[in-house]
Amino acid sequence: MFSMHILGISGSLRTGSYNTKALKAAQALAPTGVGLDIYVLHDIPLYNADVEKEGIPASVAALRDAVVAADAVLICTPEYNYSVSGVLKNALDWLSRAGGKPLEGKAVAIMGASPGQLGTVRAQYHLRQMLVHFNAPVLNSPEVMIAKAHEAFDEAGAFTSEQTAAIVQRQLQALVDFAGLLERGKATASGS
Ligand SMILES: Cc1cc2nc3c(=O)[nH]c(=O)nc-3n(C[C@H](O)[C@H](O)[C@H](O)COP(=O)(O)O)c2cc1C
Repeated sequence: MFSMHILGISGSLRTGSYNTKALKAAQALAPTGVGLDIYVLHDIPLYNADVEKEGIPASVAALRDAVVAADAVLICTPEYNYSVSGVLKNALDWLSRAGGKPLEGKAVAIMGASPGQLGTVRAQYHLRQMLVHFNAPVLNSPEVMIAKAHEAFDEAGAFTSEQTAAIVQRQLQALVDFAGLLERGKATASGS
């Protein structure tokens, strides 16, 4: 049984996605007792206010509920034209309309993988800016930018670089600590 659950969201739909691979590699590096589930955004429709008027789509409600149920969220973003993927932006747009403020007060960490030299740094800073709107506390450090993603995984899907594995492991531990800190703060504020 896990004492804490992290929801990992991949911003790529691609079968061989480096970002989904990074989340899978991270599963093996989570602290003891911490589960990392991976959510791929295949079923999320394109945001359309006309559709919203008819009701929040079941797939969006499922994503919202998964975020609410998680103790922390780890978003792994690709970089498209110096920003996040449309797939991820679209899912965040829906989440902002799905009710319940699912990301408010939720501990969030960001990582990203790209074949380029900068490993999604520009996309990650756009994502941080967007998360301000959700009032989501985002972990500042360590940042995980996986550059040269085409060389970052071995045949079994593990990170080829010990430094990458180590920094992902440190980020997961920091995210767990951050989520615990926020929970204790909420418990103190509510007097429980
Ligand atoms: C439309 C498009 C724009 C891209 N722009 C960037 C970019 O600005 N910076 C970057 O590092 N890589 C860029 N790339 C390359 C992606 O990082 C690469 O396709 C990556 O594998 C996508 O993530 P995934 O492997 O998780 O699908 C772009 C790719 C596409 C298709």
